[in-house]
Amino acid sequence: MRATVGWGAAGAAAGLRRVHLERRDLRPDDVAVRVDYCGVCHTDLQAVQDRSGDGGTVLVPGHEFTGVVTSVGRDVTRFRVGDQVAVGNIVDSCDTCVMCRAGQENFCREFPTLTYGGTDRHDGSITAGAYSREYVVRDRFAYLLPANLDPAAAAPLLCAGITVWEPLHALGVGPHSRVAVAGLGGLGHLAVKLSVALGAETSVISRSADKADDARRLGAHDLIVSTDPEQMADARDRFDVIIDTVSVPHDPGPYLRLVAMDGTLSQVGHLGPITVQTLDLLIGRKKLSSAGSGGRAATVALLEFCAEHGVTADIELLPSARVDEALDRLRRNDVRYRFVLDMSDLK
Ligand SMILES: NC(=O)c1ccc[n+]([C@@H]2O[C@H](COP(=O)([O-])OP(=O)(O)OC[C@H]3O[C@@H](n4cnc5c(N)ncnc54)[C@H](OP(=O)(O)O)[C@@H]3O)[C@@H](O)[C@H]2O)c1
Ligand SMILES: [Zn+2]
Ligand SMILES: [Zn+2]
Repeated sequence: MRATVGWGAAGAAAGLRRVHLERRDLRPDDVAVRVDYCGVCHTDLQAVQDRSGDGGTVLVPGHEFTGVVTSVGRDVTRFRVGDQVAVGNIVDSCDTCVMCRAGQENFCREFPTLTYGGTDRHDGSITAGAYSREYVVRDRFAYLLPANLDPAAAAPLLCAGITVWEPLHALGVGPHSRVAVAGLGGLGHLAVKLSVALGAETSVISRSADKADDARRLGAHDLIVSTDPEQMADARDRFDVIIDTVSVPHDPGPYLRLVAMDGTLSQVGHLGPITVQTLDLLIGRKKLSSAGSGGRAATVALLEFCAEHGVTADIELLPSARVDEALDRLRRNDVRYRFVLDMSDLK
């Protein structure tokens, strides 16, 4: 086993603490990655909150990271020591099911192995995430990082970015589309940048006007205040696609009413049961959809697109020892627009 260190949540203790971890010895198709930068996703915050009080095993979050390959398994041909790579929230899948064969490893029938809190397909161990200095990953789920992307600002592309890229792409967003992004956070701000880069007229739906200047700087046409009934009424039936990244349970009705005829509301933020009024779908033949993460081919396509269009996240980079501060500020919605942890302080 390979010893490393990271940040983990355990039991009812407040905050994350420095933990010693063991990574597996390399299998023939594994690469070892020195983690340099890891984004802080709202899902990490949720996982840490869900864990508090459970008293059991240590949870090491982190599922969007970049770093450098430090060793390769004997069958690996796609990577060499020294390559800059990126890894997202899926680290393995079955390869053979209909979803995997279609390039949608994220929908693997056997459920893809998640980067943390997943179950390794070979030894049954629980995966520990990338709030740590080293990660060992099957080579198929590591991606070469294009040289012109800043590795810190590119890390969030691997969860936040791909999660909004797949629905934008699958729903055919392009120059003639009218797109709105609900919730301007980590996922939301990347959805705006990607939608704008795809040529779509893009709007933001936010709870207040506080982020209006940022929305325009990101390339959005305007910002609609979701708590203002008049602005919401004015925007009725306006968008072909709405990407909803709001992180709390909410009624999809007000957003569905902003969808144009035959358009789609893609709910990628909070996941869980929702109640839908059929009439909100019936009037205008509207569609309600969801998505999550992305397949390998889409991840490669996203990285190429971002390299070509200069798209990365707007980040606040913090030493990894300040992870609690990052999580606390994320909880209070005090982030513009993604925290990234610099792991170089983990010796
Ligand atoms: N489908 C997937 O595979 C996937 C992948 C990653 C993350 N997620 C989920 O996506 C969600 C967003 O993640 P994130 O990292 O982008 O989070 P984030 O940075 O915290 O952004 C969430 C945004 O939601 C809005 N919001 C927050 N609290 C709200 C409230 N009480 N009422 C209405 N709006 C509220 C805010 O936007 P405004 O300030 O603009 O209103 C906020 O910026 C999380 O639930 C996360 O777990 C899903
Ligand atoms: Zn995530
Ligand atoms: Zn599969």
